[in-house]
Amino acid sequence: MHHIQEDIQEVLFTEEQLREKVKELGKKIAEDYADEKLIVVGILKGAGIFMSDLIRTIDIPIRTDYMVVSSYGNATISSGVVRIVKDLENDIAGWNILIVEDIVDTGRTLSYLKDYLIRRGAKSVKICTLLDKPDRRVNPVDIDYCGFIAPDEFIIGYGIDYAEQYRNLPFIASLKREIYE
Ligand code: IMP
Ligand code: MG
Repeated sequence: MHHIQEDIQEVLFTEEQLREKVKELGKKIAEDYADEKLIVVGILKGAGIFMSDLIRTIDIPIRTDYMVVSSYGNATISSGVVRIVKDLENDIAGWNILIVEDIVDTGRTLSYLKDYLIRRGAKSVKICTLLDKPDRRVNPVDIDYCGFIAPDEFIIGYGIDYAEQYRNLPFIASLKREIYE
């Protein structure tokens, strides 16, 4: 039997650390958007688990929605061309939007999405990411809420995949090099 734990190089953030950080982010978001109209938009599939934990720590009325985006290219390098596979179901004109993402890497996905949502009439668009890899940035993007700075390694777990696997790990880890090289 092959346990997914065998493919992990190192655990970077434990379940306990994730729980604490998510709570802290949710509290800050609730304070910042008190008395504001807010739609929290999760970017699937990667941010699915983070989003579902995060929204349960935000104790103000919010709407939620989801987008599915894909960037052309192979599994480990994003190409910079963003395709919207599933768009929002809400009309966002006049609403504050908070995008919830798993990882900001080159910044291409989020700089594209932010422009797109502003063009659709959002009152404001802010970004909450669980992880940031600032050394890899190509397109500058302002991050309003960030969980952790991640090392420049291939990250898996807590919703984040390699080739659609490892999303079910309950913590964040780096993947052994021999698996993706
Ligand atoms: P960006 O457009 O380069 O910022 O790409 C961000 C997207 O690439 C994230 O939403 C992830 O889906 C994916 N990504 C970037 N780094 C990693 C990683 O280390 N593991 C898994 N997915 C990653
Ligand atoms: Mg993603």
